[in-house]
Amino acid sequence: MFDKDQTNLPFNRNLAPNFSRLFSRRSSIIKLTLFALFLGTIIWIIILKPLAESDSLSDFGVSAKNKKESTQPIWQIDLKKTIDERFSVYKKEQFTESALEKNRLIPVTAVLLGWKRTEGLQTVVNYISKYPFIKEILVWNNNNETRIYARDFSLNNSDVELSVFNSEENLHDLSKYTTCSMAKYDYCYFQDDDWLNLYMDSLYTNFLESPSLIHSNSMPTIYLESRKWMFANADKNLHTGFTWLGCGSFISRAKVQRFLGQLGTISLMKDRLKLVDRYFSLWTNQYPYQLSNPLTPLDQKDGWGVDQRNMVYNNILDATQKLYTALAVKSGSELFTREEEKPYYNDRVIRAPCLNDKCLFLTNIDPFPHPSRVYYANNITHVRNQEAKFNKLDFPSKFFWNNYAFHFAVDSDGQTCWNSFKIPKVGDYFGLQFVEPSFPKKVTILSSKDISNFNASFNIQVSPDGNKWRTCNITNSNNTDYTYNNSITFEFDCSNIVKNKRLIRFIRIEASRNFIEPFEICSLILDELNV
Ligand SMILES: *[C@@H]1O[C@H](CO)[C@@H](O)[C@H](O)[C@H]1NC(C)=O
Ligand SMILES: *[C@@H]1O[C@H](CO)[C@@H](O)[C@H](O)[C@H]1NC(C)=O
Ligand SMILES: *[C@@H]1O[C@H](CO)[C@@H](O)[C@H](O)[C@H]1NC(C)=O
Ligand SMILES: *[C@@H]1O[C@H](CO)[C@@H](O)[C@H](O)[C@H]1NC(C)=O
Ligand SMILES: *[C@@H]1O[C@H](CO)[C@@H](O)[C@H](O)[C@H]1NC(C)=O
Ligand SMILES: *[C@@H]1O[C@H](CO)[C@@H](O)[C@H](O)[C@H]1NC(C)=O
Ligand SMILES: *[C@@H]1O[C@H](CO)[C@@H](O)[C@H](O)[C@H]1NC(C)=O
Repeated sequence: MFDKDQTNLPFNRNLAPNFSRLFSRRSSIIKLTLFALFLGTIIWIIILKPLAESDSLSDFGVSAKNKKESTQPIWQIDLKKTIDERFSVYKKEQFTESALEKNRLIPVTAVLLGWKRTEGLQTVVNYISKYPFIKEILVWNNNNETRIYARDFSLNNSDVELSVFNSEENLHDLSKYTTCSMAKYDYCYFQDDDWLNLYMDSLYTNFLESPSLIHSNSMPTIYLESRKWMFANADKNLHTGFTWLGCGSFISRAKVQRFLGQLGTISLMKDRLKLVDRYFSLWTNQYPYQLSNPLTPLDQKDGWGVDQRNMVYNNILDATQKLYTALAVKSGSELFTREEEKPYYNDRVIRAPCLNDKCLFLTNIDPFPHPSRVYYANNITHVRNQEAKFNKLDFPSKFFWNNYAFHFAVDSDGQTCWNSFKIPKVGDYFGLQFVEPSFPKKVTILSSKDISNFNASFNIQVSPDGNKWRTCNITNSNNTDYTYNNSITFEFDCSNIVKNKRLIRFIRIEASRNFIEPFEICSLILDELNV
C-alpha cells in the first residue's frame, strides 16, 4: 500500500490513500465518523500557520531539566559497543504470519519522527530493526528543509518494512499519532531520536502481559515526577496519568485512533494541537504502565535548552480538566473510556528492566502512594496545587530515589542498591520476571547491610504467568560472606511443583516474617544469571 520513499508526500493534496489503513479492517459507521473527525483535525492543522515555538518538546522532560537536576551521573557506557552486543532473544521465525497464529506474540510498527538529528535517527532505526517484533518502521520527517529516504538507513533485519515520509510542514507531536494511525500492525512503538531504549526485550515482554495499556520508560527522577501527575476521582471514573512517550513506549493503535477522534471533537487551541503528547496518555483515562530506568542519551544538540515547564503544566492541566468535564457528563458519550483496565494499579508489580535486558525487577512494595490518595475535584488552578497535596504524603525524596530506585537491584553493580523505603511485612516480596523461561536452583542476595538474619525469613516462589505462584523447597541457606554478612544464598528445589522446565518465567522471594527496617538489595545472582 505504501511506496517506499514517499518524498513530498501528498499530505495536503490527497489524504485518503494515506489513511486507508485506518479502516482497512473495519467498516462500521463508527470508523467513518472517526475518520471524518480525524480528517477535520488534519484540515484544521493544515490551515494553521506553523508555530514558531517547538520542534519536539518532549525533549524537555528528560533532557534539559534532568541534566541539571540529576544527582546520578548519566551512565558512561560505550554506546556503540553496547548496541552491538544487544540482540533479541525473540526470533524472526516467531513473527511469521503462521507462527503468530499459534503463539501469543504481537508484531509492532515503530513510529519515528525526524527533525534535525539524522544521525540519531539512523542509530535508532538500525538498532530497533534488530528486534524481530518490530515488523514495520515508519519514519516521519517533520523537517521540510531536509529530505530523507529509506536508503539513508541501514537495517539489521531484512524482514522489516521501512517507509519514510517527508512532510511539507512540521506537524510536531501530532505526526506520531497520525503516523501510528496508518500502521500495518495493531500496536505502535514510539521512540525519539535523542534517547535510546536499551531495554527493548524487557519492555516488550511486559507489554505482552497487558498490551492495551501504554508501556513507557522513564528515568527515575521523571518517574517520581510522573507519580505526582496522576489524577483520580472514583465518582467520576477518573483514573489517569501523564507519561512521556519518547524514550521508548508501546501504544495501542486503537487508542491512537480514538485519540484522533477526541481531538476532532474537543477543539484545542491551535498551539496546543502541536503539543498533543501532553494530552495522549491523560486522555486514555488509564494510568500508564511506567518502568523506571536510566536512559541512554544520543546526540541531543538540537533539542530544547529552555525550561518549558510552565507549558507542560498548562497542557497537563488543560488535558485533565477537559477529560474531567467530559466524564462528569452522565451521558452515553463514549468519547473517553470510563472503565479502568486491568491490571489495576496495585497489581502492577513489574518495576524496572534489568540492565542486561534479560529480566525485569518486580516487587509489590511501592514506595509511592496510590494515586487515589490525592483526590482530583477539578478545582485546582495549577498542577502545582496537585503536587502540593501529593507532597504531604509519605514517599521518597528525589535524593533518595536517585540513589535507591528499583533498577539498582538489577544493574549488575553490587555497589548500588534498591531500598524498599517501606518496611516489609509478611507477604511482601521482590524478584524477577525472565524474558526467557528459566529454571533457577540457587539465588544469592547481595545487600549493603548485615543480612545474616535473612536465613529463615523467606519463601521462594515461582510462577509461569505472575498470577499463580508455587512455593519451592528451600534446601539450604548460607551466609556466603562472613566478613560483612551482607550476602546470603538460598538453594532450592522446585522440581516437586514444576515438572516442565520451560514453565518458570517468574521468581519471587517472599517475606515470611515482619522486618524492622527496609530492604536494601544491591544485586541478585541466580545460577549463572547475575543481575
Ligand atoms: C546486526 O546486529 C548484529 C548483532 O548486534 C551485529 O553484529 C551486526 O553488525 C549488525 N548488522 C548490521 C548490518 O547492522
Ligand atoms: C518550510 O516551512 C516553512 C514554514 O511553513 C516555510 O516558511 C518554508 O518556506 C518551507 N521551506 C521549504 C523548503 O519548503
Ligand atoms: C476542591 O474541592 C474539594 C472537594 O469538593 C474541596 O474539599 C476543596 O476544598 C476544594 N478546593 C478548592 C481550592 O476549592
Ligand atoms: C540462621 O542463622 C543463625 C545465625 O547464623 C543461626 O543461628 C540459625 O540457626 C539459622 N537458622 C536457620 C533456620 O538456618
Ligand atoms: C555454606 O556453603 C559452603 C560452601 O558452599 C559449604 O561448604 C557449607 O557447608 C555451607 N554451610 C551450610 C551451613 O550449609
Ligand atoms: C557475621 O555473622 C557471624 C555469625 O552470625 C558472626 O559471628 C560475625 O561476627 C558476623 N560478622 C560481622 C562483621 O558482623
Ligand atoms: C519438600 O519439602 C517437604 C516438606 O519438608 C518434603 O516432604 C518433600 O519431600 C520435599 N520435596 C523435595 C522435592 O525436596
